Amino acid sequence: MIILGLETSCDETGVALYDTERGLIAEALHSQVDLHAVYGGVVPEIASRDHLRRLLPLIQQVLKEANLEKPDAIAYTAGPGLVGALMVGGGMANGLALAWDCPVIPVHHMEGHLVAPMLEENPPDYPFLALLVSGGHTMLVWVEQLGQYHVLGSTLDDAVGEAFDKTAKLLGLGYPGGPALARLAESGNDKAWQFPRPMINRDGFDFSFSGLKTAVMLKVREASSLETVRADIAASFQRAVVDTLVARTLKAARHQKAARIIVAGGVGANRLLRAELSRQFSGQVFYPRLEFCTDNGAMIAVAGALRLTDGEKPVTINAKARWSLESLEIPAA
Ligand code: KG4
Ligand code: ZN
Repeated sequence: MIILGLETSCDETGVALYDTERGLIAEALHSQVDLHAVYGGVVPEIASRDHLRRLLPLIQQVLKEANLEKPDAIAYTAGPGLVGALMVGGGMANGLALAWDCPVIPVHHMEGHLVAPMLEENPPDYPFLALLVSGGHTMLVWVEQLGQYHVLGSTLDDAVGEAFDKTAKLLGLGYPGGPALARLAESGNDKAWQFPRPMINRDGFDFSFSGLKTAVMLKVREASSLETVRADIAASFQRAVVDTLVARTLKAARHQKAARIIVAGGVGANRLLRAELSRQFSGQVFYPRLEFCTDNGAMIAVAGALRLTDGEKPVTINAKARWSLESLEIPAA
């Protein structure tokens, strides 16, 4: 079966075709970053309009690339996300499903991130611990199997990607700031400043990043704006974030006696995080390739394929701005 995946929850229009036998067969992405950069963040109305402009041509592009007239099913991101942007993908998926007479599967955006490592050559077996780190979410999830998720901890305030973006803004870097901050950090000394490792010794598995952001803000105000000083701040901030994420993840892994960890979401592209987790965890760590850490259509296509082969019954149109990851169990056939 070939599944068309559509991702339109935020500022990337992602489209992909996933073959349950052959894996990923075509993929296209249009990033709206330039459209939103002038505003310093995503403008929902602009996002919806651009998805509308880009989606159909991208679908035509992947079908042509795969030499295919139509897929066997369509999976789309139904939430959580910007509701107008979600409606564009949901409307397109349901319209095409009607025209092509094929099933349509609504996908939870974070489940998409969770299964992104399944697109790689050696996918993880269940169960595994997942560290989901994106611009909107920071979560530790125990994954028993597809659809069976226990959220062990999440952020009490800012998401980690948001902390990267806000800190990058303080340092005068563009939007989205995560990758730019990580690049600047490469030339800095990560021991120059001792920023807090929030909640590192607290019970439970929750995170908090707003205090760290404030500590950096105070430092930026008093420090000079020399490039070397900014690089030191970036490196020290990144080190504090990575130390915190790794410590909390290892604690959850010990608690769950996890043999496998997966890391996904935009911040999963962070090289220091990947290196430290692989170095410090005695079991296996799985990552999506870098371009499938950030939002993309391939993760939605593979999530749809997994759900369909697990016996999920297709449903009608769906767009949810908020959606609990723990409500996704597939009803027994
Ligand atoms: O998963 P994603 O594409 O979108 C959401 O669902 O939020 O994640 C985007 C986030 C942004 O905050 C971005 O700054 C961050 O991921 N990010 C990074 C890196 N690449 C992307 N943060 C740190 N280091 C990176 N290399
Ligand atoms: Zn995402």
